[in-house]
Amino acid sequence: MKENSKKITRRTFLGTTGAVAAGLTILPSSVVSGLGRKTPAPSDKLNIAVVGIGGMGNSNLMHVKPTENIVALCDVDWGYAKRVFAANPDAKAYWDWRKMYDEMGKSIDAVIVATADHSHAVVASNAIQLGKHVYCQKPLTHTVYESRLLTKLAAKYKVATQMGNQGSSDEGVNQTIEWIQAGEIGDVKKVEAFTDRPIWPQGLNVPKGEWVPDTLNWDLFIGPTKMRPYSSVYTPWNWRGWWDFGTGALGDMACHIMHPIFKSLKLGYPIKAQGSSTLLLTDCAPNAQMVTLTFPERIAPKGAKIKYPEVQVTWYDGGLEPTKPAGWPAGKDMNDAGGGVIFHGSKDTLICGCYGVRPWLLSGRKPVVPKTERRIEKAMDGGHELDWVRACKESAESRVKTKSDFSEAGPFNEMVVMGVLAVRLQGLNKELEWNGEKMEFTNIIDSDNVKICISDNFTITNGDPKFDRKWTEPMPAKQFASEMIKHTYRKGFTLPEIPA
Ligand SMILES: NC(=O)c1ccc[n+]([C@@H]2O[C@H](COP(=O)([O-])OP(=O)(O)OC[C@H]3O[C@@H](n4cnc5c(N)ncnc54)[C@H](O)[C@@H]3O)[C@@H](O)[C@H]2O)c1
Repeated sequence: MKENSKKITRRTFLGTTGAVAAGLTILPSSVVSGLGRKTPAPSDKLNIAVVGIGGMGNSNLMHVKPTENIVALCDVDWGYAKRVFAANPDAKAYWDWRKMYDEMGKSIDAVIVATADHSHAVVASNAIQLGKHVYCQKPLTHTVYESRLLTKLAAKYKVATQMGNQGSSDEGVNQTIEWIQAGEIGDVKKVEAFTDRPIWPQGLNVPKGEWVPDTLNWDLFIGPTKMRPYSSVYTPWNWRGWWDFGTGALGDMACHIMHPIFKSLKLGYPIKAQGSSTLLLTDCAPNAQMVTLTFPERIAPKGAKIKYPEVQVTWYDGGLEPTKPAGWPAGKDMNDAGGGVIFHGSKDTLICGCYGVRPWLLSGRKPVVPKTERRIEKAMDGGHELDWVRACKESAESRVKTKSDFSEAGPFNEMVVMGVLAVRLQGLNKELEWNGEKMEFTNIIDSDNVKICISDNFTITNGDPKFDRKWTEPMPAKQFASEMIKHTYRKGFTLPEIPA
């Protein structure tokens, strides 16, 4: 299919990284473009490009479109994305974001990334390196390394960033943080969280290859990961359940559900991780998982009303839920909006739903705590995206950070993808010890191997199930782990270096 050659209306302000990276004075909006990146005045419109428009990307787009210019759209599936291209005829249409950056890099101010998880980092990091502001869907990245990279790149290039966990801008997360930090439940040493996902197929054997539809560029969908034959099982949407593309139920939902935990308890890198699941397969995520992450004691800020002792955070998915604590109101569903969190405090227990919604205390007390975190209206209905637009238009020096700025979303996402590592390394049968700074496990030794099930079949013969499970050869665990921490990218796809 040919590129859509429709012209776009070019904006006046151009994006180049040099001035920003060097911390030079931001030029006023009247300055002729090309002399360095300048911060658009709040009244100026941003030129926004969206990569991955068939699903959530369109929702993000619709929220910014009323006030900003949508100048370019990129998708690898022109069948699935057809209606979005059609609804935005003034935006130049692309298959390949690399070509889009080459051709339109100078006229794009900001990029929204809503592709499958495995390509978030490569699309986002290359945009940041060009000095573009980035809104990137959750989970921020597929690996720990990619999260670290985006955190540091965003800081270096001083761009405005936001991860697409819209709950972070909303009432529930704000209120949960305020209650916990006001000391309403005392100190927290144990937290449990869960989701009712997956609601897409998981635990599957690798499907047989199919012909690629002529509206899909499979090679570009594969992007940085290793090539595999196309199947309609993978995309759209169901890529979530395939390790090469997605991050399973945990990666899909934890950025919404665990955010109030990360933020209220001021978590950083975990020090220990342990995972288990229903049958672990090489390619497809398991139907249900459980992960426990341990975080070390953190230093309480001056004047803090709580201490921040070592805390264990346990995650459940696939229908598993934490045990209901003593005093749980009989008949009350723990699942609120797709999941929930239980903060076990020294004085009380706080329960909230996905996106932190509707926090309540098990004691029945109704805390009255000053509202300190509020700023964003209609967060779940476009406010989160528009807060990022606001941040893009503020100068780097005086910018009020978005609620899921990469400086926080990056480390938070490292916690989320650590859950994936723990599940995929469960065959080691040990609690993994993690050095966050160095991004390495400290207790995986050279002789450790993992063996993972490739496919799981059974037939019933005369009423008797006969199992036919195929396993990988034992794989060196160190190598397997490092490849999951930092992927080797396919030729043609590169990440910038992590800034010092
Ligand atoms: N914040 C939320 O509430 C929320 C909700 C849904 C999805 N998401 C996130 O949004 C992202 C997309 O999920 P989705 O449900 O929209 O998936 P989807 O499969 O429905 O849509 C993804 C789109 O990206 C396109 N795409 C894939 N790789 C691409 C590439 N390299 N270049 C350009 N286009 C590419 C696909 O063709 C498709 O149109 C995921 O990261 C997901 O976790 C967030």
